[in-house]
Amino acid sequence: MKYDILVNRQNKISDDFINDVKLINIKDVNGNDVLIEEKAFSQFLKLKHYLMEYEDIIVEIECAYRSKIEQEIIYEEFVSMYGENYASSFVAPIGCSEHHTGLAIDLIIYFDKEGFISCNDNFDRTTLVFEEKVHKHLSDFGFILRYPKGREDITGYSYEPWHIRYVGKSISTEIFNCGITLEEYYEKIGNNNI
Ligand code: DAL
Ligand code: ZN
Repeated sequence: MKYDILVNRQNKISDDFINDVKLINIKDVNGNDVLIEEKAFSQFLKLKHYLMEYEDIIVEIECAYRSKIEQEIIYEEFVSMYGENYASSFVAPIGCSEHHTGLAIDLIIYFDKEGFISCNDNFDRTTLVFEEKVHKHLSDFGFILRYPKGREDITGYSYEPWHIRYVGKSISTEIFNCGITLEEYYEKIGNNNI
């Protein structure tokens, strides 16, 4: 299983990648079925329990695997709600989304009394919690923050405090310690592993 796969605007996912991915069926925050790669899920559970115990917050999965058709629907929805520019800064073109790998998760945070609040509903408030309590722990569980602030020109997307990606512990640790993106990690290792 290629946990370090690079999927972005320049590197579309191949049609057969998903054949090697062990997807399992779980429930998202709303109780709907969602697919996710099994190791990414078991590591998410460890992260979730850690955050509960040591940061006193509850995180859940808002989204994980998305098919190409689902990506197309989301893209069109964003275009109709916010226009083309905004849509393309937050939603990947079909075939270029990490969500097609089963290794990406969109997290959602629980707030006392109000319940789960999505970044879409209150960006500033949720972002503060992600930054204070979540991001610093991701690499310990093999995840990276995939679209960090200030790296929009490298990743090709706006800052997404909620979107994490499972890459495995050694790569997540290197990316976190060096303060780089997955794109820069690939550049560092000589681009020979895509
Ligand atoms: N939000 C990320 C870029 C995606 O659509 O895959
Ligand atoms: Zn996402």
